[in-house]
Amino acid sequence: MTAITIDGKAVSQKIKEQVEERVKSLKEQGVAPGLAVVLVGENSASLTYVKNKKKTCEALGMRSDLHQYPEDLSEEELLAKIEELNNDPEIHGILVQLPLPEHIDEFKVILAIDPSKDVDGFHPISVGNMVIGKEAFLPCTPHGIMKLLEHYGIDPAGKHAVVVGRSNIVGKPVGQLLLQKDATVTFCHSKTQDLASYTRQADILIAAIGRAKFIGADHVKPGAAVIDVGMNRDENGKLCGDVDFAAVQETAGYLTPVPGGVGPMTIAMLMENTLHSAENGLQ
Ligand code: GUN
Repeated sequence: MTAITIDGKAVSQKIKEQVEERVKSLKEQGVAPGLAVVLVGENSASLTYVKNKKKTCEALGMRSDLHQYPEDLSEEELLAKIEELNNDPEIHGILVQLPLPEHIDEFKVILAIDPSKDVDGFHPISVGNMVIGKEAFLPCTPHGIMKLLEHYGIDPAGKHAVVVGRSNIVGKPVGQLLLQKDATVTFCHSKTQDLASYTRQADILIAAIGRAKFIGADHVKPGAAVIDVGMNRDENGKLCGDVDFAAVQETAGYLTPVPGGVGPMTIAMLMENTLHSAENGLQ
């Protein structure tokens, strides 16, 4: 059996087309959605991500301001910038790219963002609302994963979902969203013993580990849906995920590629969150 490849590029394209239409109609009502992206320091991966976010915003007709600062920006200066963006009526979404330099307290910065503009879904108010199933900005990568499952008709209800990785950005929230869709959820992490004994039970396996090609065929139950959140370089410097695609392809039922799986969905969901925030401003 060869797995069906989950085409995140195609699904994200559809979502972006819908966003573009809604942006047009919002602009006709006099509101131009705006996203402020804040980048501190010289992290090259962060710069690539941030440029991509800005480019996509503009392609869909949304305003996007990039506020780029040197590594030695003080915490006070960053907090002051966030306050200014909180009070700017033309900015509907604020995204502070992580990681931040060590001298800046990441949690303090996230707390400073107005929850009504928290398009990353990282503020504790957003996280809390998500966990209790109330309206909230959902974090973009987990939300994108749920959209992919939905698009391919993979209903989590009653299934065993195993999440490998417990980050605040991906592992923890995707587990919560799967639980809300009635999956039985197991979290695994770096201290889990005999990882494969858990992952082999997964009907839905989420790999968010950060280690190139870590998940092999021996980790996967035949027919499982395997979602690869990894973004690594292999021994030849080629982009690859946390899953050994070629090996797992023969066992899994569904599999996301890297690139072209989860990655494009993250950006599409950020666009949708920003648009949604601007639409909320109309009410
Ligand atoms: N760093 C890695 N992923 C993300 C993300 O989704 N949002 C932000 N703000 N920073 C990140």
